[in-house]
Amino acid sequence: MLSPSDFIPKNYPKTVENGSFQWSAPSNIALVKYWGKKENQIPANPSISFTLKNCKTITNLSFSKIEKTDNFSFDLLFEGKSKESFRPKIQKFLERVEVYLPFLKEYHFTIDTQNTFPHSSGIASSASGMAALAVNFMSLEKELNPEMTEGYFNQKASFLARLGSGSACRSIKGEVVIWGNHNQTENSSDLFGIEFSELHHNFKNYQDTILLVDKGEKQVSSTLGHDLMNGHPFAERRFEQAHKNLSQIKTILTNGDVNEFVKLVESEALTLHAMMMTSMPYFILMKPNTLEIINKIWKFREQTSIPVCFTLDAGANVHVLYPANVREEVLQFIKNELVVHCQNEQYICDEIGVGAIEFTKF
Ligand code: PMV
Repeated sequence: MLSPSDFIPKNYPKTVENGSFQWSAPSNIALVKYWGKKENQIPANPSISFTLKNCKTITNLSFSKIEKTDNFSFDLLFEGKSKESFRPKIQKFLERVEVYLPFLKEYHFTIDTQNTFPHSSGIASSASGMAALAVNFMSLEKELNPEMTEGYFNQKASFLARLGSGSACRSIKGEVVIWGNHNQTENSSDLFGIEFSELHHNFKNYQDTILLVDKGEKQVSSTLGHDLMNGHPFAERRFEQAHKNLSQIKTILTNGDVNEFVKLVESEALTLHAMMMTSMPYFILMKPNTLEIINKIWKFREQTSIPVCFTLDAGANVHVLYPANVREEVLQFIKNELVVHCQNEQYICDEIGVGAIEFTKF
């Protein structure tokens, strides 16, 4: 089994003066949820997610060699403009990953980033943002060590992204990604995500329409949320359930059983929210419109037998999941019945994607 020290490089055969890279990395939506963590961003239970395609962060990393300093030297731009409010988060990330990327203090970096989804849409940008940054730094490490394999590149990129934001490790490579030790998943690890490659064609191009119910700031930050699982009265049972649900959903995703998928995914979403409602302090992150939407999805499913379902992250927005072959009917239903429950009638059409993509080489 790999340990964090396996990601500490020994020495680099090459030197590089300056250059730039550009990568996009997507967001992801968990089917079995990660909720609860230990020290160093180690998950309390394994999780699995669909990688998204359209909701992504595009990050350009420029670098030029400097005299090694005691501090990190970097400028931050968000959509072309200076963004000092991101500095503490990036600083913390650099501190956490420095031991694994020992060249960081030998360069000045300009990190220029933009998201494809609207600001403050309530969609977590930390997963796509941290993943995009991690792959850029790995591109630089690959210049310093051209022998690096693609497998190592992706594994270490996921490892680094995890140190930025846990679920970001599921945004590097693969349509479906598993993260966290799971005794029924070979090569699974708490340190990085691995690709699940047995996806049945029923799930190919699976659709995710994200209904923006509440675009405001998150009511509970994910750091605080994960902390709520420490000493939570139901924590141990929940972690056990996540292991079982992961085994079960792997079978479902392999066999193509869309009806079983619906049950498991909705149960996971409601369990995540139940954990928040039963913690101390307690939170209700759904809004009345979240419940309106859920009830309408259930009614539509009952009437049409179309296997459309919902999942939620730690907020009020609803991800509507459905097979690609019923896209037209479901989009019509969404427009006719669900959009009225969204803030400013806003929603985002997305589907399963492949992971991070490099745009340019220097
Ligand atoms: O990666 P974080 O620390 O923002 O946590 C994400 C938690 C959930 O989105 C609620 C679940 C998940 O597995 O993505």
